[in-house]
Amino acid sequence: MKKQFALSALFLVLVHFVSAQPAGLSWEPVAAGVWRAKIGEPQLTDLLSAGGALPRLEALEKLGERPFPLPAGLCYAENQAGGIYIRLPLQREEQLFGLGLNFKTVQQRGRILHLHTDHYDGSDNGRTHAPVPFYVSDRGYGVLINSARYVTVYAGTANRVDSPDPPRVYDRNTETAWEAQPYSDAVETLVPGNGTEVYVFAGKNAMEVVQRFNLFCGGGVLPPKWGLGFTQRVPALSTEADVIKEADAFSDHNFPLDFIGLEPGWQSKAYPCTFQWDHARFPDPAAFVKRMLDKGIRLNLWLNPYLSPSSPSYKQMKPLSGSHTVWNGLVPDFNIPAAGKIYQEIFEKEHIGIGISGYKIDEIDGFDNWLWPDVASFPSGISGEQMRQVFGLKIQRLTLDWFRKYNRRTYGLARASNAGGASLPYVIYDDYYDHRDFITAMCTSSFIGVLWTPEVRASASAQEWLRRMQSVCFSPMAMINAWADGTKPWSYPEVAGAVREVASLRMQLFPYLYTTFAQYYFEGIPPVRAMNLVDGFSYNPASTAGALHSTGNPYSLALKEDIKDQFMLGDNLLVAPMFAGETKRRVVLPRGKWYDFYTGRLAGEGEVIEIVPAAERIPLFVRDGGIIPMIPAVLHAPRKGEVLPLEIRFYGDTAGRFSLYDDDGETFNYVKGEYNWYQLQVTRDKGGKWKGQTLLPEGQKNMGQYGTVSWKMMNER
Ligand code: GAL
Repeated sequence: MKKQFALSALFLVLVHFVSAQPAGLSWEPVAAGVWRAKIGEPQLTDLLSAGGALPRLEALEKLGERPFPLPAGLCYAENQAGGIYIRLPLQREEQLFGLGLNFKTVQQRGRILHLHTDHYDGSDNGRTHAPVPFYVSDRGYGVLINSARYVTVYAGTANRVDSPDPPRVYDRNTETAWEAQPYSDAVETLVPGNGTEVYVFAGKNAMEVVQRFNLFCGGGVLPPKWGLGFTQRVPALSTEADVIKEADAFSDHNFPLDFIGLEPGWQSKAYPCTFQWDHARFPDPAAFVKRMLDKGIRLNLWLNPYLSPSSPSYKQMKPLSGSHTVWNGLVPDFNIPAAGKIYQEIFEKEHIGIGISGYKIDEIDGFDNWLWPDVASFPSGISGEQMRQVFGLKIQRLTLDWFRKYNRRTYGLARASNAGGASLPYVIYDDYYDHRDFITAMCTSSFIGVLWTPEVRASASAQEWLRRMQSVCFSPMAMINAWADGTKPWSYPEVAGAVREVASLRMQLFPYLYTTFAQYYFEGIPPVRAMNLVDGFSYNPASTAGALHSTGNPYSLALKEDIKDQFMLGDNLLVAPMFAGETKRRVVLPRGKWYDFYTGRLAGEGEVIEIVPAAERIPLFVRDGGIIPMIPAVLHAPRKGEVLPLEIRFYGDTAGRFSLYDDDGETFNYVKGEYNWYQLQVTRDKGGKWKGQTLLPEGQKNMGQYGTVSWKMMNER
């Protein structure tokens, strides 16, 4: 009681101080290398609590303590009329990453972002599916504004009169160094309302900062094994017979398939939804789901979470819903546990209980004209704006908890997320369909604790189809979203063989892929990594400013060139997708030697190379000493109890090690320690011969499913 009083007294003093004048922030350590400052009044909701994940304190401890990474004397906040103003310093050459799921830019220094949950509409302005208010600096720290308001971040764009490190003044008449946007020495943030928390994460480099952020948000998701297999979504009004036919067509074409997604027509009514089956199209859902499971195919259900007046639960939900509807459906106030309970009952009875594997949670991001407006109110007291920022997190968290009750992992799709969502088993997607921008989103997702899929729908040409299929096979979810037109992987006969080849390669890479996700869970290292997170990557071209002439924009901003069309998948594999219409591309290789995945030949060493790859293959490179564990080209991800031979490839001329993860692939028993890390090791003997070894640490019970092991020394071919 006394302590509580002392805390609130301290809090009042702080509120007073903050409202009176700019105040230094008081940083409280909350985990190893993580600090929090509370500014103003506590809020009814925030991002971390909406995501509901618990910080992985032990894993953070393992990363070790670090000193506070910012000059504390230069960090301050002020309660202004428009909200809380926060100013954190920047050094001259510092680079910033993060600040939402961006599609065009990786580096964010010099940008202004109005972070607001929305569909992506073609410009990186902060309106996006995951407007995560978290930035990572290459100087080894990250900052999270834990607010569910529309936060505006000026990421090094403006200058104060009283700046301690102001930019040099140039005369535009005579000095060519003049820039339309002079260098700025701070990140300035405006948080509407009267309070927020700010978190600072330290790290020896940008990657360690991201690790700490992800671990603080509960650690990354470990999908079920089937979630990493191939998935097809069928046309909106498909019937049970159509879905069975689709599964059979995949097996007839020898094409991998682990789960099928049903689009709106599985429900008796959609837009708004009943979440109940349409019995004309699906007469006996339980029998149908079982029949599919017997074939080894799981089912994922599309929904948008707005309740139809035709639902028997409508009356019960009405008082627990917002003031406005979406497509005439109720918007449940998930801040009230009873609202979640009503959905839980329906979802368990209709879907989870009969064996449905997961959901595609659509239309929780925007558009403004469709969603509830910001003037909407909710019975729990949270505003329309706050609900917009946390709705995606809330429903992801609820559905995950419902699956957990059955000790079954799930993996699905969601069109909105936010900070605190790393451990939630969902991948973001959208209707925007630019292949290049989809790859940039792969890169930017890696800074902010979300997963992204560059889904494939249709294509203007066979070549584009192939290039898109290659990219999606190297992403967190390999999906064709044929909801509108029923396109199949083999719909473009000219490239059908090459499409099968890349889908098979994804399946072969399963042990490697699953391990990269285990790293996400255990160490917070994201599976897909922007090059700027990779050790030894340095590419820092000069800024490109607009010259002062009248044909171009004389005031264009000086932006650094981004490397946004290649990324790392796990520790060892560099992926350099190709785009339709292109025959060659540039690849920036980080420090050390890099080898062609397919041939094992040296591709380059810490340099920029130009390649002219074959049309049927996506360019892949492996680092020196890289070990890639693989399985045969199976048609489904390894199932419980199935034993598969391992083929382990080794690249380069430096001895290497790899920790290979395995577990039952379906349950949450890994949380209780039921898993294995096999140690794979390659060394060279005195005679110069390479030798591989697999070791299961002594005393470990083998939970995994790998049988015989063969080694393929790619350097001896
Ligand atoms: C869109 C979604 C598509 C598809 C469609 C069905 O909002 O992005 O992938 O599911 O709805 O109506």
